[in-house]
Amino acid sequence: MTDTRTYLRGLPVFAGELPRFDPGEAPDRPDTLFVAWLTAAVGAGVREPHAMTLSTVGADGVPNARILILKNVDRDGWQFAVHAASPKGRDLSRHPAAALTFHWPEQARQVRVRGTVRPEPADRSAADFLARPPGSRAEASLGRQSRPLADRETLDRAVEQARERIGNEPGYVVAEWTLCTLAATEVEFWQGDKERKHTRLRYARTGSGWMRELLWP
Ligand SMILES: Cc1cc2nc3c(=O)[nH]c(=O)nc-3n(C[C@H](O)[C@H](O)[C@H](O)COP(=O)(O)O)c2cc1C
Repeated sequence: MTDTRTYLRGLPVFAGELPRFDPGEAPDRPDTLFVAWLTAAVGAGVREPHAMTLSTVGADGVPNARILILKNVDRDGWQFAVHAASPKGRDLSRHPAAALTFHWPEQARQVRVRGTVRPEPADRSAADFLARPPGSRAEASLGRQSRPLADRETLDRAVEQARERIGNEPGYVVAEWTLCTLAATEVEFWQGDKERKHTRLRYARTGSGWMRELLWP
C-alpha cells in the first residue's frame, strides 16, 4: 500500500489538451475576459464552471471559504446571493470584502477576484429569490443554514412545511435573502502550462479604469 504522499505525487496535473492564452490580446476590462473564459470553459465541457470559492474574513480574523454559485458578472462586478443570517452573510456584514476563486481543471485555468462587497437593494434581492426554483426557495426559507441539526427527520419536516408555504404563497420572499455584488479591485487570470511556464495576467483597478501586468509564475 503506497503512502498518501506518494499517491498524491503520482496524480496528474495539467493533463490533456490545454487552451492557448495570449495576454497581448486580452481586453481592457477583466469582466470581458472573464465572460470569454467562462464561455470557453462551458465549451470545453467543464462541469459547473459557475461554481466558485467565496472566501470571507471570520469574526475571529480567520479566513472562511465555501463554494457558491455565481449569479452574474458585468461592469459593476461579480454577483452572488447569501442568506444574511448564514455564517458567510454575517462575515460579509461585519467585513464587506471577499475573494472569489474559480478553477477550471480541464483547461488548467484559475481566476482570482478580490474586492469589496455591497448588498443590492431589497427589490433586486427579491427578484433574485423569486427567480429560483420552488425547491431552492423552500430550502432558503428554512433560514437555519450551518446551525447544528438534531436529526434528518427534523430537516424533512421543516422542508415539507417550507414547500407547503412556497406552494401556497408563490410571491413569498425571504427578507434576509441578499444579492451581493463584489466590486473587484484586482482580478488575476492564470493559464497553466505543461512546461510550467504558466501565464499570469493581473488587472488592477486605477480610478475608473484598469491597468494590466504580467506576473511571474
Ligand atoms: C457546487 C456547490 C454549489 C453550492 N452553491 C451554493 C449556493 O449557491 N448557495 C449556498 O448558500 N450554498 C451553496 N453551496 C453550499 C456552500 O458551500 C456552504 O456549505 C453553505 O453555503 C454554508 O456556508 P456558510 O456556513 O459559510 O454560510 C454549494 C456547495 C457546492 C459544493
